[in-house]
Amino acid sequence: MKPFLEKDINEILKNTKNLYKLFAGKNILMTGGNGFLGKYLVEYFKRINKEINKPVKLTVYDFTYKKNQFEKHIQLIKKDVSKPFYTKKKYDIVIHAAGIASPFYYRKKPLETIEVTIAGIKNCLKIAKNNNAKLIYFSTSEIYGDPSKNNVPTNETYKGNVSSMGPRACYDESKRLGETLCWVYSNYFNVHTNIIRPFNVYGPGMKQKDYRIFPNFISSLLKKRKLNVYGVGSQTRTYCYITDAIEGFLKVICLGRSGEAYNIGNNKPEVSIIEVIKILKKIDKNLKYKKINYPKAYPSDEPQRRCPDLSKAKKHLNYNPNIQLLDGLNFFYDWAKNNYKY
Ligand SMILES: NC(=O)c1ccc[n+]([C@@H]2O[C@H](COP(=O)([O-])OP(=O)(O)OC[C@H]3O[C@@H](n4cnc5c(N)ncnc54)[C@H](O)[C@@H]3O)[C@@H](O)[C@H]2O)c1
Repeated sequence: MKPFLEKDINEILKNTKNLYKLFAGKNILMTGGNGFLGKYLVEYFKRINKEINKPVKLTVYDFTYKKNQFEKHIQLIKKDVSKPFYTKKKYDIVIHAAGIASPFYYRKKPLETIEVTIAGIKNCLKIAKNNNAKLIYFSTSEIYGDPSKNNVPTNETYKGNVSSMGPRACYDESKRLGETLCWVYSNYFNVHTNIIRPFNVYGPGMKQKDYRIFPNFISSLLKKRKLNVYGVGSQTRTYCYITDAIEGFLKVICLGRSGEAYNIGNNKPEVSIIEVIKILKKIDKNLKYKKINYPKAYPSDEPQRRCPDLSKAKKHLNYNPNIQLLDGLNFFYDWAKNNYKY
C-alpha cells in the first residue's frame, strides 16, 4: 500500500519551496513517524533531500516498525516512546507526533494513551533542552473540549470546556498536560516550543481500520453498505485535507514563534454528519445511511461543534488551507479504491 498520492506529495513540495533552505542541514528526531501524519513528514524529508545541498538527517521512533531501517540520512527505529529514552546524538528539531488519536483505540487503551503522550513529551523535552533544539508537540483540537457557542470558531486563547473524567479524558487531558509541560520548559528552561493543535485531518494513508469518520464512511461506500451515523448526526466539524494540514505543520516547524500554540485545520465549511452524507452522495448517488446508537467501543460524549479560528496561523505563518471538502473526499475515495479491502 502506498500511503499517499504522488500528486499530493508534489503539491506539498511545490507549496513549501521557501522552507527547504530552513530545513537544510538540520538533524531532526521525530516520534510516531509510522502513523498517518508521520509518514507524510518522513516522505517529505526524503524528497527535499534530493533538492538541497545539505541533507536533513532524520531519526524516527515508532513501535509499529517491524524492524529498524537505515536509508540515506534517514533512520527508522522501532521504539516504544512511552518508556524512558535518551540519545547522545545532537538534534536541532525534536517532533513528538506519537499518540493514540482514534477514539476507538484510545477508548480501548486509556493508560497507553496517557503514557505515550506524557512520557513521550517529557523525553522529547529533555532532549530538546539538552540540545538547545526546537520542540514541536502534536497536541489536538480536542484540548478545547466542547466549546460554548460564542467560542466557535475557537481561537488559541480559549481555555477549554473539558472533563477530567469520562471516556475521552485519557486523550484530552493527557494532551493538555503535554501542553503544560511544553509551557514549563519554554518559560523555565527557555526551550523553543511550538504546540500544534490539528483539527480533523483526513486523506489517503488513513488505515481502513482507523475507525475515524472518513475511513469508516469510505470503507462502507466501497462495500456498498449503509453508512452508520452515531446518534442524531447533528454534531459539526470542519475537515482538513492532508496536503493543507502537512503544509501547516511544516510552517509551524519552520516559522512558529517561540512558546506559541497554533490551530492547524480548515475553517470552512463547518458541517454536520448529515451534511457530510449529502456531500458524499455526490461521489456515490446510491449511498444509504442509518442512524444507530453509539457503539460501546466509541466514546459517546462527543463535542457538539469543532471549528478553528485560523487568524493566528494566517498572521504568523501565512497559512491558508484551500482544498474543498468534496475535492478532498474524491481524492481520498480514489486512493481508497486501490488500497482498501472491499
Ligand atoms: N490526524 C488528526 O486529525 C489529528 C488530530 C489531532 C491530533 N492529532 C495528533 O497528531 C499525532 C499524529 O496523529 P495521526 O493521525 O498520525 O495518528 P496515528 O495513530 O496514525 O499515528 C500515531 C503513531 O504513533 C505511534 N505510537 C503510538 N504509541 C506509541 C508508542 N508508545 N511508542 C512509539 N510509537 C507510538 C503509532 O504506532 C502510530 O504510528 C498524534 O499525536 C495525534 O494525537 C492528529
